[in-house]
Amino acid sequence: MIVSVCIEKGGTGKSQTAVNLSAALVKFCKLKVLVVDLDPQGTASLGFGISPLSTNTHAIHEVLSGEIQPHESVYAYNESELCIMPARHELALFGSQEFSEQLAGILNPMSQVFDFIFIDLPPTLGNFTTTALSLSDAAIIPVNAGSSVCIIALLSQMRTIQSIQEAVNSKLRVLGILGCMVNNTRICTEVISWMEEEYPELLFQTKIRHNIKLAESLGLGEPIFDYSPDSYGALDYKSLALEVMGRVS
Ligand SMILES: Nc1ncnc2c1ncn2[C@@H]1O[C@H](COP(=O)(O)OP(=O)(O)O)[C@@H](O)[C@H]1O
Ligand SMILES: [Mg+2]
Repeated sequence: MIVSVCIEKGGTGKSQTAVNLSAALVKFCKLKVLVVDLDPQGTASLGFGISPLSTNTHAIHEVLSGEIQPHESVYAYNESELCIMPARHELALFGSQEFSEQLAGILNPMSQVFDFIFIDLPPTLGNFTTTALSLSDAAIIPVNAGSSVCIIALLSQMRTIQSIQEAVNSKLRVLGILGCMVNNTRICTEVISWMEEEYPELLFQTKIRHNIKLAESLGLGEPIFDYSPDSYGALDYKSLALEVMGRVS
């Protein structure tokens, strides 16, 4: 199953979710998961310890431009069933060109090998997001619950998804809306209850609490289950993985 992790806003927890939901599905559900980093900033790559500045690894733009085969840019994290196809800033060139066929050329063979492919997307609506959504089975939308502005981004993302469903990809569905960086401030309570009212079916029961261990782990290149397995962050992403499994089965 191919899942885009998307919302047209930065700093909402997309990369964090791509990394740690994937890690949880491998660890607790014994699945094979690939994270495709389709953000030129390479944050998800960083989350697996691959610097977006390093040229020691092959990155996705080389696959998209036909220089290498898809499998040559798939790296296993710690020799596990959790893999990453990293991104570097050169990927930005594809933001202004049509690359749907090339991306399909990655996703089709990889979906034969992996149970889940999560595509981590940049914060802006553009080629990357629309191309990924046109080839995905589902989308997960992480919302920073501490930001009321994020509601606008959520509404706008839902519209984009609907128009892609109608125009090119009728199989696309929203797997869930995820409350991220949740704490007990009034703004978080209000944003969460608004989402509960507007999207009772889509909002995940699991909320990802604000947890400093999560912020640390992303920059240090280790999924939360290695960096701090007893943290709230680890508990929340494990719970999310189980809820995702319930929704897809
Ligand atoms: N639940 C959380 N608790 C604390 N920090 C978080 C949490 N989720 C994300 N972060 C941090 O917030 C920043 C933005 O998150 P990120 O996943 O990179 O957002 P996006 O990919 O949507 O731009 C990162 O530094 C990340 O580590
Ligand atoms: Mg990101």
